Amino acid sequence: MEVRITPINKTLTASTGTTLLDLLRDNEVPISYSCLSGRCGTCRCKVIEGEVSGPAAAEGRLANNGQYVLACQSRVESDCVIEVPEPDEVVTFPTKTLKATVTAFEQLSNDVRRLRLKTNKPLEYAPGQYANLTFPDGTRAYSMAGLAEDGELEFHIRLVPNGRVTSQLDNRIKVGSSLKLNGPLGASYLRRKHEGPMLCIASGTGLAPILSILRGALESGMSNAIHLLFGARTEADLYGLNYLNTLASDFANFSYRICLSHSPDHQEYYNGLVTDAVAQHFPELSDWRIYLAGAPAMVEAASLACTKRGADIERIYADAFYPSG
Ligand code: FES
Repeated sequence: MEVRITPINKTLTASTGTTLLDLLRDNEVPISYSCLSGRCGTCRCKVIEGEVSGPAAAEGRLANNGQYVLACQSRVESDCVIEVPEPDEVVTFPTKTLKATVTAFEQLSNDVRRLRLKTNKPLEYAPGQYANLTFPDGTRAYSMAGLAEDGELEFHIRLVPNGRVTSQLDNRIKVGSSLKLNGPLGASYLRRKHEGPMLCIASGTGLAPILSILRGALESGMSNAIHLLFGARTEADLYGLNYLNTLASDFANFSYRICLSHSPDHQEYYNGLVTDAVAQHFPELSDWRIYLAGAPAMVEAASLACTKRGADIERIYADAFYPSG
């Protein structure tokens, strides 16, 4: 079977049973991947023509025109045209399972904790990726808030009342505790080869991957205009403003706006949802890269608000934080 790869316009020959990812790697086509098991979404490709089987395709059917598949789980079933992400956006940090020791566990707000870990071997990751952490009462996914070169890993953990895992953390975790970490995972990472402006939108502990993306961009010298909208219900739900103030004072191309949805009389911050702020302050987003992280309803609404203002859906990178305690 012949597989034409766009946008690099290379034609490959696929044999029956080979995964699309193996085909791409065997032929040295740059492609992002991480978990190799269908969990992280990093290896997502678009089927332009032809038929591809795999779990990302609708159940019992084949993916074809315009549908996305996970290359690590998909097999080519006919002559195809497959679109892979631009080569300059590729990251390949294979997922590892590492032992980690807690070096700090501190309060950031009433219900958010900062967890810092030292792993037994270095973990490479792209800004914005996440890892699975195994605590004494179960495993949960959290995004890295820092950069790989920091040496230690930082996570922001919301304690969910009655949550099976997180409600126990204040009693279970202390400096010196051991955890297991599996990562990196996720495709919502910083794209560095972009000269236009960037809009980041975060709510709650969605600030963690967005901080990583902001630092990754600013500290590597990207001079793009970078804006952040950080949403919370009330001032008491905010955390991490010290990080944002430091970035804003260190980098002239970075600015941020706090949006409070349930504090209509607040004098200092924007009164309304982050999507209201998008509508009011960002009328034209066609050349922008957009990074979203937070509650699923916010991510969905913000994505819609951005595409309505011209953002290309292919240039919107999103991490939805599904509630799990
Ligand atoms: Fe394919 Fe993670 S590498 S889904």
